[in-house]
Amino acid sequence: MTRRAIVNDPQHGNKAEAFEAFDDIPTNPNLSRTIGDIINARYGRRNMLKGFLGVSAATALFGTSAMSAAKNAAASATVPSRYSFDELNWGNDETHHIADGYDADVLLRWGDPITAQGPAFDPMNQSAEAQLKQFGYNNDYVGYTELAPGRGLLCVNHEYTNEEVMFPGLGRQDRVGFTGMTRELVDIEMAAHGGTVVEITRGGEGKWSVVRDSAYNRRITPLNTAMTFSGPAAGHQRMKTSADPDGMTVIGTMNNCAGGMTPWGTYLMAEENFHGYFWTDVVNADSDPDLSAQPEARQMKRYGVPGKWYAWGKFHDRFNVDKEPNEPNRFGWIVEVDPRNPDAMPVKHTALGRFRHEGAETTLSKDGRVVVYSGDDNRFDYLYKYVSRGSVSDDPAANSALLSDGTLHAARFDEDGRIEWMPLIHGAGPLSAENGFNDQGDVMIDARIAADLLGATPMDRPEDAQPRGDGTAYVMLTNNTRRKPDRVDAANPRPDSSFGHIIEIREAEGDHAATSGTWSILVKCGDPSIAEVGAQWNPETSANGWFGSPDNCAIDADGRLWIATDQGSDWAKTGKSDGLYALETEGELRGHSKLFFRCPVGGEMCGPYFTPDSETLFLAVQHPGTVGTKDFKGFERSSTFEDPATRWPDFADGVPPRPSVLVVTRQGGGKIAV
Ligand code: FEO
Ligand code: CA
Repeated sequence: MTRRAIVNDPQHGNKAEAFEAFDDIPTNPNLSRTIGDIINARYGRRNMLKGFLGVSAATALFGTSAMSAAKNAAASATVPSRYSFDELNWGNDETHHIADGYDADVLLRWGDPITAQGPAFDPMNQSAEAQLKQFGYNNDYVGYTELAPGRGLLCVNHEYTNEEVMFPGLGRQDRVGFTGMTRELVDIEMAAHGGTVVEITRGGEGKWSVVRDSAYNRRITPLNTAMTFSGPAAGHQRMKTSADPDGMTVIGTMNNCAGGMTPWGTYLMAEENFHGYFWTDVVNADSDPDLSAQPEARQMKRYGVPGKWYAWGKFHDRFNVDKEPNEPNRFGWIVEVDPRNPDAMPVKHTALGRFRHEGAETTLSKDGRVVVYSGDDNRFDYLYKYVSRGSVSDDPAANSALLSDGTLHAARFDEDGRIEWMPLIHGAGPLSAENGFNDQGDVMIDARIAADLLGATPMDRPEDAQPRGDGTAYVMLTNNTRRKPDRVDAANPRPDSSFGHIIEIREAEGDHAATSGTWSILVKCGDPSIAEVGAQWNPETSANGWFGSPDNCAIDADGRLWIATDQGSDWAKTGKSDGLYALETEGELRGHSKLFFRCPVGGEMCGPYFTPDSETLFLAVQHPGTVGTKDFKGFERSSTFEDPATRWPDFADGVPPRPSVLVVTRQGGGKIAV
């Protein structure tokens, strides 16, 4: 329900016409400020002097029905989109689709050899040894660092594996107690996790290819890549294991979801759902983990360890918490990899805290300190921001050390539209010995528990958080169907949220190192034609343009925002495949979304990453061919190696679907969007 209102703007002596959505009133973050304050802060004096609240302001401040009403009332001038492409039609089928005038070429598929000695992909004869020289599974984050014009290093995360479409004759193993898993299969899974660094080059026709014999090419895996720790938890008592009595070295990284590239050209891999890889044989009457004898029970409960999503702990003792209770403390970090130095040991930077890191997107403060935004992708978990003590310089080693010495903050989103970044510092406030924190290492290992005590705001699954460099950051809140009506708040305004929303943060003074700022909701996702969904888009958004479950995102060289979706089994609620959308953040089209790329059925949209000239866009499609309870034609099915929902991208008999990285270029060359 909406009502029309006339609002005074005392500062300019004008009256602004606006529309208030009654159903927004209990949770509207801006209620404690006057409408004039809000409009003036966001749109500036110029808009106010028009004496009329335009469509874009109404879009940002109020709900969908209010936007429609405002649109009807506003002048009918058409504002051109800042994204110069004709949007795709929505749908869901066996293959990918890109807007007209663009190419989306497959660059790397699961199993493609990435070294000169790497064997060709042979899905019926897989081995860990081969997989260690081949592109891994479920490509998620994609980063790029330039070596020279048209030549650079692609850095790709391999988040997880889907055994049911990866191996013949197996099916979903988590549903049958992992009875089909062997040590050999587990080792292949481990070799398919982690990351890949490959050199790529752009040919004469503007097409990119992999330089297979490049000395830079390498795989990083939880099977065989040694890493070290830095920061407050390095060498900590709780980081020590029987294989590593110093608590300084760990083999590998896993569940690397999104990530980031640092201003000095290194690659950050976020460790997300690490809890799922840990095993226990000690269970209670309901077959749930029995943590009563666990020295690490408090944090294990808070972090969901052991999750038993995989059988690794049946064959590798370090993933069995009955045998190695401290091993889970060595995961859930941000890993820094120097792609230019293949011999350099990756570093897990414990100063950035331990949680289910979705990503690690970096920017600089006004005085040159490095700032890293990172969401903790869990229902009711938090958004974090790390600010280094020192500033970036020309010295790569000194720059890496910036990730060892700084302050991690957790976000509190206040009802009045302010955000407070609260530091996680041992000895300050509740982060004391009496609450179980003996030192800063404890605070970092138990970052979630520390943020609980500080009163951070439980969010609707914070995924990517992308700073733009101008003091603005965009936070993807993917969904949260467990939020009950009595737990909604201004920043998470919908109960049972199937479709998620996006928050825009504006840091104080436009400085990413600020400890406070303001926030607003850019869009509430879902179908705007269904009133009960409660979506909020710019009214110009078409039936093709709206989306659900924002997950990853990117900002191009001109500051435009691009959103990748991950609906998971919720795709059935939209009927749409996952895809890449162009979302306006500025001007009268703020909140307007257009569909640019569609995944094949079952595929999740990852990447996206633009080259510095914005002429190339890397996209990643992970787990193509996997579907939930119904396939895209509405039939019940469970995809398997033998019968996948698609055989994208090869479409060859007997070849399973293959997660792949695509290269998007504009036909005839030039920036992806102008
Ligand atoms: Fe791996 Fe939060 O998506
Ligand atoms: Ca993600």
